[in-house]
Amino acid sequence: MSMSLLSKMLGRRDIWKRIAVERLTEPLHLNAIAALVAVFGGTRMKISFDLLVRQQHAFGLLHAADTAIARGIQHVTVVELGVGGGTGLLNLCDLAAKITKVTGVRFKIVGFDTGTGMPPPTDFRDHPELYKEGWFPMDKGALEASLPTNARIIFGNLRDTIGAFVATMSPEAPLGFATLDVDFYSSSKHALKLFTGSALCYLPYVTVYVDDIALPTNTNYAGELLAISEFNTEEQFRKFDFNRNLVYLRVFKHAEWLIHMYKLHVLDHPERNDLSRPPEIVAFPNPYLE
Ligand SMILES: C[S@@+](CC[C@H](N)C(=O)[O-])C[C@H]1O[C@@H](n2cnc3c(N)ncnc32)[C@H](O)[C@@H]1O
Repeated sequence: MSMSLLSKMLGRRDIWKRIAVERLTEPLHLNAIAALVAVFGGTRMKISFDLLVRQQHAFGLLHAADTAIARGIQHVTVVELGVGGGTGLLNLCDLAAKITKVTGVRFKIVGFDTGTGMPPPTDFRDHPELYKEGWFPMDKGALEASLPTNARIIFGNLRDTIGAFVATMSPEAPLGFATLDVDFYSSSKHALKLFTGSALCYLPYVTVYVDDIALPTNTNYAGELLAISEFNTEEQFRKFDFNRNLVYLRVFKHAEWLIHMYKLHVLDHPERNDLSRPPEIVAFPNPYLE
């Protein structure tokens, strides 16, 4: 991260408030170790100790890379649904480059956005009390000029763009991580079509960061959560599930990003449907038996 970006972030009250709530409530010794990791640690350690900006992206990218490596896959696709001003997309690009260095896995990064900010809301399910038409515009030229060669933005309403993209997805670079940040229910309904392609175009499960679910009026009956709930009803072999184990696998338990982490389970993935008899038998040793 550049010094100017760091100083801009440290000037934000919400960042300090989050650090205070998340970190000062954690044990002192873990914070002390984190300080050492910040100075001497490598990328993996920094991700374990939540030291990279947008921990959800760092975790999702690294997990996708490790899941791919375990299957001999060298390329992974990453999608940001809703780009806005592009902070999240550039952060993904920056972190992806770091993770490629430590894992060798290469990322294809694709952002989707109207390019002109939020479309008009449809009804209460779009949370018009939170988001308005035209919000979150982008400087298209500046953003596109800042993207590395492995990243691109597909412009237009997701209603018109997502289907054609899904048709181009390939098992050569399966989807390994996605972020859902389109705010509206109506936009999320279109966005979730991303997860309906051919099974081999996905890792057997895909980490999904769901952004707009933690404000006071967010509910299962509107916004992204309603779209996810309907997706789970409509799709027989694709299901979103909250990643409920993650908190137990993390060093810092109070990090807010953990409640945004979901998995898309690709139940029709060939790896999840191999019923053949195994060459080796797995057995658990029983310590009570002599
Ligand atoms: C909050 S912003 C995204 C911020 C970004 N993810 C970040 O972290 O920096 C939400 C974006 O979703 C886009 N969006 C909402 N509905 C859309 C739709 N139906 N089609 C395409 N883009 C949409 C809007 O243009 C807006 O820029």
